[in-house]
Amino acid sequence: MSLEKVLLDELKDLLSAESQLVKALPKAAKGTNSPELKQAFLNHLEETKGHVVRLKQAFDILGKKAVAKHCKGMEGAIAEVTEALEQDEEGALMDAGIIGAAARVEHYEIAGYSASILMAKTLGHSEVVNLLTQTLTEEENAGKLVMTLATGILKEAAQQQ
Ligand SMILES: [Fe+2]
Repeated sequence: MSLEKVLLDELKDLLSAESQLVKALPKAAKGTNSPELKQAFLNHLEETKGHVVRLKQAFDILGKKAVAKHCKGMEGAIAEVTEALEQDEEGALMDAGIIGAAARVEHYEIAGYSASILMAKTLGHSEVVNLLTQTLTEEENAGKLVMTLATGILKEAAQQQ
């Protein structure tokens, strides 16, 4: 198996991960009690749709068909978000659970993009590197925003019984 094939498998995995997220983010936005977190999820939903587009562009550049390969890791990470949403907690306490799960989702994506960028760099696919780096920056910012919002939400959660 060539490195090119490994990169393609990573991109197929990411395409599945992003498509799963497009479906999951509206549910997370609906389930959270924090207006800021809700807005962050909705903004990231729009970004995530753009991530799908960029991945398809990357397949195009590589002259391959954009096919998704089911990403089990993202399935698991999303299942944890769903679990947090179904907790019998209220207000900020529920949001505290969502924050941990949402942070896992973002870091999982960051890992996938970081590895793919390194592979594309090694193979000299600079256009693909450029596309994936734009997405990576948005994932990093989304992860940071969740952590920034967490500070206020966790203070509130600490007051809750
Ligand atoms: Fe993404």
